[in-house]
Amino acid sequence: MLHADPAGELIQDLRRSFGGTFIVNSGFSAVTTRDEAVSVVNDDIADLIAVGRPAIANPDLVERWEQGADENEVDQATVYGGGEHGYTDYPVLRG
Ligand SMILES: Cc1cc2nc3c(=O)[nH]c(=O)nc-3n(C[C@H](O)[C@H](O)[C@H](O)COP(=O)(O)O)c2cc1C
Repeated sequence: MLHADPAGELIQDLRRSFGGTFIVNSGFSAVTTRDEAVSVVNDDIADLIAVGRPAIANPDLVERWEQGADENEVDQATVYGGGEHGYTDYPVLRG
């Protein structure tokens, strides 16, 4: 379900009704940021956040977010393509 306001009443009602581990994402337009992910969990909007494009562009995203390191920029032209380019060839921090 896509909804612009995961902190809003509808999504939070669904969370209470569901009662299990609740995962949201930031929506399709803007790329998920570390700050956004942290606040979703710290502000108790959800238990977890699903991360798409930053995880594709940064094979070591967890390490980068732990360190506050710079991220590889997502190449939107390859995100939805068919080949391995853009999925297996982003650099890690330590090569
Ligand atoms: C390879 C790929 C396929 C996706 N396919 C869909 C899709 O079929 N339907 C959809 O609503 N969103 C799709 N998305 C967008 C995700 O909903 C989006 O990645 C998610 O909201 C998390 O945002 P983020 O990629 O900025 O972390 C896709 C994203 C990626 C990276």
